[in-house]
Amino acid sequence: MTLRSRIVGTGSFLPEHISTNDDMAKIVETSDAWIVERTGIRVRHFADENTYTSTMAIKAAEEALKVAGMTGDDLDAIVLGTVTPDKTFPATAVYVQAALGMKHGCAFDVVAACSGFLYSLRAADNMIRLGQAKTVLVIGSEKVSKVTDFTDRNTCVLFGDGAGCVILKAGEGKGDVSDSGVLDTLIYSDGTYAPELCSTGGASTNHEVGFVSMNGREVFRHAAVNMADVSLEILEKNGISLSDVDWLVPHQANIRIIEATAKRLNVPMDRVICTVDQHANTSAASIPLALADGIKSGKLKKGQLLLLPGMGSGFTWGASLIRL
Ligand code: ACO
Repeated sequence: MTLRSRIVGTGSFLPEHISTNDDMAKIVETSDAWIVERTGIRVRHFADENTYTSTMAIKAAEEALKVAGMTGDDLDAIVLGTVTPDKTFPATAVYVQAALGMKHGCAFDVVAACSGFLYSLRAADNMIRLGQAKTVLVIGSEKVSKVTDFTDRNTCVLFGDGAGCVILKAGEGKGDVSDSGVLDTLIYSDGTYAPELCSTGGASTNHEVGFVSMNGREVFRHAAVNMADVSLEILEKNGISLSDVDWLVPHQANIRIIEATAKRLNVPMDRVICTVDQHANTSAASIPLALADGIKSGKLKKGQLLLLPGMGSGFTWGASLIRL
């Protein structure tokens, strides 16, 4: 008998305010044509002053709890991926814990930028596999607009705000790939690439929150390669061939990165969930937002095998294999 983390609920939240590429062109020298051609992004959602990373996480969590037929008190742990916390400390996850009325267990944040959901998922899945928790809420929530320099056209058009989450519940499996739930998650980092994509600020350096600083070409070059390579590795490790994968649900940074990853994997684009046109890059929220979107639209169905690759600042990257 193997303990598996079954997905019993998903939720998402996008702030009401939508900013189009034409809106961005009023702020910096850019155009809808440039943004669409280079990134595939058409619109992004921006949170208002009173909507924090925790606010969005709580909304997504409430939706997932409703789907799962649970209350906050049914959760043993909350793991929240974010690089845009409400405060430097405590963890944003504890605000979510309090709002959901969860009075036991633990809640903590994971800092892995765009790989934040995959890192959080691995931590949560390990807790379940080890019998340390039975039910875990895994969230990716980001208010990237707060670390975006709206005078820098190289970065400000790329990002958006939002939150997505899953609720994992322990269930018994056979221990092979026919099981439903999280089958495996691989995560990696290489800190020598930290300067290529980082914040310009930090509590222990300059006492500032900072803005996104990015070497776009270097990120682009590594993203498709890392996401494809880790995808192949996790498939090989689990004895699964690409033709067995029903859907690729990749990190949504740029349609060209998604297409390049799919091409390297030889997966046709009609088996790839793409939300980057509507959400832009929401960092740790991007994969769970895409997952929730795929489920809500009816594309992703129970029993299907999903491959979720991601890559972000650090560099961090990874992939998860999930049977719904
Ligand atoms: N509007 C118009 N022109 C722009 C804009 C803009 N918003 N931004 C940059 N440009 C200009 C540049 O200034 C440059 O002009 P120049 O030649 O006169 O200097 C020109 O466009 C071309 O710039 P490139 O860097 O060659 O453009 P590229 O085709 O590489 O696209 C992009 C840039 C979209 C940033 C691309 O490199 C990319 O997607 N990189 C990955 C970045 C990313 O997704 N980061 C997200 C976080 S990491 C992650 O999630 C994986």
